[in-house]
Amino acid sequence: EVRPIAVQGAMDMEVAYFLKQMGEYKTETFGSYHFYSGTIEGVPVVVSKTNIGMVNAAASTTLLIEKYHPKAIINQGTAGGHDPALHQFDIVIGAKAINYSWFESPHRDAGAGIDTGSWKVMPKPIEPDPELYKTAMSLADQYKHGKVVSGVIGTSDAWNKEIDRINQLHNTLGTSAEEMETASVADVARTFNVPFLGIRVLSNSELYGEDFAPVSSDYCSEFVIEVIKKIESGV
Ligand code: 5AD
Repeated sequence: EVRPIAVQGAMDMEVAYFLKQMGEYKTETFGSYHFYSGTIEGVPVVVSKTNIGMVNAAASTTLLIEKYHPKAIINQGTAGGHDPALHQFDIVIGAKAINYSWFESPHRDAGAGIDTGSWKVMPKPIEPDPELYKTAMSLADQYKHGKVVSGVIGTSDAWNKEIDRINQLHNTLGTSAEEMETASVADVARTFNVPFLGIRVLSNSELYGEDFAPVSSDYCSEFVIEVIKKIESGV
């Protein structure tokens, strides 16, 4: 059995570049989840469109693992900047992924108000497969549209536009960027012992008024293809 490398994207625009590079591929659909099998520059891949959000990411990752037995899973796509050192088109390689929507708040009486700053995020961050992470980091110099950095990917079913909230997440959890799938996929991949890595491009940064740029997803995909090739070559 040839075990493919799996590449995930939540939206059409986040899988489009891979489909173009595959040229010919086989499409299979389970529920609302689409899987596209083929090769990119000779490397067997399965491209998975997860759809948006943590539930979709988890459900489609379970199907991905059961149906395609991937030897590695790369979750990739767009994200919003949390780290002031990062701008639109910079790429974050996930040294950690954290589900920041899992929290416990301390007791406050009726009328005492809401203090998101006191909410304690519960789960431990999930680390990627060290070999996949190292391979991706070794290619950082090849990316021409911005910086490639190691960072923390924050996941939640949320799109934050309050600067204070973004700063709070960055200052307390060290988040580099936010999106809606990575930690969910990391959790499922860990359950099944499948090597995992998250790679995210800043498509937008509320910190700098940089609005969502769709072309960022192609830039990310281009970089991910370099990573896939290097994983496959085993060097
Ligand atoms: N906040 C949350 N999700 C974002 N995405 C891109 N930018 C952001 C952001 N600033 C991604 C999510 C989801 C889709 C809405 O876009 O991962 O798939």
